[in-house]
Amino acid sequence: MENIKPKRIGILTAGGDCPGINAAIRGVGKTAIVKYGMEVIGFSSGFIGLINKDYQVFNENQLSGILTLGGTILGTSREKPFKKTKKNLDFLSKPKLIIKHYKELGLDCLVCIGGNGTQKNAAKLSAEGLNVIGIPKTIDNDVWGTDVTFGFDSALGIATEAIDRLHSTANSHKRIMVIEIMGHHAGWLALYAGMAGGGDVILIPEIKYDLEVIYKYLHQRAEQKKSYSIVVVAEGIEKPKSKSAARYIAQKIINNTGLEARETILGYIQRGGSPNAMDRILATRFGAHAADLISQGQYGRMVCKNGELIESIPLEEVGGKLRPVPFDHPLITKARGLGICMGDYCIESQLR
Ligand code: F6P
Repeated sequence: MENIKPKRIGILTAGGDCPGINAAIRGVGKTAIVKYGMEVIGFSSGFIGLINKDYQVFNENQLSGILTLGGTILGTSREKPFKKTKKNLDFLSKPKLIIKHYKELGLDCLVCIGGNGTQKNAAKLSAEGLNVIGIPKTIDNDVWGTDVTFGFDSALGIATEAIDRLHSTANSHKRIMVIEIMGHHAGWLALYAGMAGGGDVILIPEIKYDLEVIYKYLHQRAEQKKSYSIVVVAEGIEKPKSKSAARYIAQKIINNTGLEARETILGYIQRGGSPNAMDRILATRFGAHAADLISQGQYGRMVCKNGELIESIPLEEVGGKLRPVPFDHPLITKARGLGICMGDYCIESQLR
């Protein structure tokens, strides 16, 4: 009888964590083991685990019970193996170690679960000749090439609940509440949470805001006897360095309108805890699809969602790109129509 060596795959999770990573690890790992009879190993702390050959072998049992867990059982880091620094003269030493360890461990494929930075590194390793599959994750929802990333929906629920809670305290004190939502480069989370939470002003990095427009809009609301306002800001909006976006905007409002304002920075609460049902399903589908691709020998690809379908696109197309909110996104158009201020201008009827 022919003795075919089972495929051996490695999984790593890199970049900021988010709800659903363990569901994705389980999705890839269980499908690889149960459906395809592969061997699965997990690297610790992102690319650091591959550089240091720090890993553990997983059997199916060890992947049970992790579906609902927040964070990542593998640990993560923001290690960028290809980064050139002044100190690091042999900047290719880390990629060389990664390739060496990949070969020594007899890997047939490396699965990289992460956001934009991770997909960029995955694309570079693929270009170096390794078999690599990327799985996109981030609460920021800004990975190019996929309609959505897991983590986003859970974070959206958390951020929306936080905004909901600010309404009652804002109303009691007749204050302006400025809430800062994660998203350095893209405003998906602030836009969606702002809409779901009934924000009055929503500021995202993609739209250049004008403070005068915001002051005028808030004054107008006060004059219309709207006793409080909710201002939702993405952390990445333009502001002086080292200042928090919410603090900066709240102080500007206080100093220039005479209205009372308070800031809330939601922070890492948005990234922590159990994934919601949609993220569990999306992460499981992404993970299982990655294992399917590996079984077919299709490498150098990132799993993605395209409409209702789970598909994949070449990693070289993804590497280094960002998916910002388009200026004419339907939700922005609808927000403007509802009289929500996006910070750039107010249509006449908003000021009546
Ligand atoms: O993972 C993306 C993100 O959540 C961004 O929204 C945020 O700016 C960043 O992570 C901060 O993460 P860390 O402090 O872990 O680098």
